[in-house]
Amino acid sequence: MSKIEINNVYKIFGNNPKSVLPMVKEGSTKDEILEKTGHTVGLDNVSLKIEEGETFVCMGLSGSGKSTLIRHLNRLIDPTDGEILVEGTNVMSLDKEKLIEFRRHKMSMVFQRFGLFPHKTVLQNVGYGLEMQGKSEDERNKISMEKIDAVGLNGFENQYPSQLSGGMQQRVGLARALATDTDIMLMDEAFSALDPLIRSDMQKQLIDLQSELKKTIVFITHDLDESLRLGDHIGILNSGKLVQVGTPEEIIMNPADDYVKAFVKDVNRAKVIKAKIIMKNLNDSENIDKSNVIKVNEDQFIEEFLPQIVCSDSNCEVVDKNGNIKGYITNQELQSSLTKS
Ligand SMILES: Nc1ncnc2c1ncn2[C@@H]1O[C@H](COP(=O)(O)OP(=O)(O)OP(=O)(O)O)[C@@H](O)[C@H]1O
Ligand SMILES: [Mg+2]
Repeated sequence: MSKIEINNVYKIFGNNPKSVLPMVKEGSTKDEILEKTGHTVGLDNVSLKIEEGETFVCMGLSGSGKSTLIRHLNRLIDPTDGEILVEGTNVMSLDKEKLIEFRRHKMSMVFQRFGLFPHKTVLQNVGYGLEMQGKSEDERNKISMEKIDAVGLNGFENQYPSQLSGGMQQRVGLARALATDTDIMLMDEAFSALDPLIRSDMQKQLIDLQSELKKTIVFITHDLDESLRLGDHIGILNSGKLVQVGTPEEIIMNPADDYVKAFVKDVNRAKVIKAKIIMKNLNDSENIDKSNVIKVNEDQFIEEFLPQIVCSDSNCEVVDKNGNIKGYITNQELQSSLTKS
């Protein structure tokens, strides 16, 4: 069973979404629907599965439906049609009490625009979810201070959100989500307001945290580098439609359409493509010159061995972690893989 399963979800915003649904199902585009009916298509027949312990990144241009999608997961938004299952439970079947319980203990969320309480201090904001979980003040403060420390806001715990910069407020939101220790974390552009150095640092922290805690994270961004760095799988939305889901390598190597191509065209391919993705396996390697090869590990990124291969004009022999030969990459193929799209 997948941790999260979304089946044929449609979301239409407007006065009478149900009346517009048949048109959407028959294939009218978002623009047509808006023009003819004044309704906005938020999501158009989205289905996907997110597995326990993975980081699933959702990418797409502004207005493509990313926030709408993530908000269906904790039912801040109800679908016009389709179902959302979390650990096999249809979230639409939760009554008021169960939904509150579910939001407090199952999922935490970092909002795109922080969502902090202006009249609570940093410490109180971070401890809010814990308060809702019924934890004592001592316990709340202890956990909150740990998380405030983790996001680098030590010393600011008694300040109010208005006294902080945007990036600092975003970190308060992140600390609050971490504090509740739910096994699903929803992060809507959680790092977008941070400056590059802190952003990179926070990405690193999230990766470290993830390798230890193995939470299920749904992370929204419109930054391709961030999604490649964080995502086990990436889903790409265009006008409410999910146009491609794949691993970072699959998205880079086989973009499904022009929209995805536009996203990946400027990516530094050497940084994200691993040796095993482009190697020819042994059966197809018979004609490759093996007199001058350099061994590389199958999980190494191209950038790690590219200079050496190019300078010595050799081919790559790709091995697994036990040293078994898995395949070969010729010098020429290595270089052309960097420009293909
Ligand atoms: N409450 C709402 N009422 C009407 N239309 C909405 C509402 N929320 C979202 N929409 C529409 O749904 C579409 C998707 O919006 P959404 O906020 O999910 O985009 P997004 O991908 O998160 O964009 P951004 O990157 O700018 O945050 C947009 O066309 C938007 O106009
Ligand atoms: Mg959004």
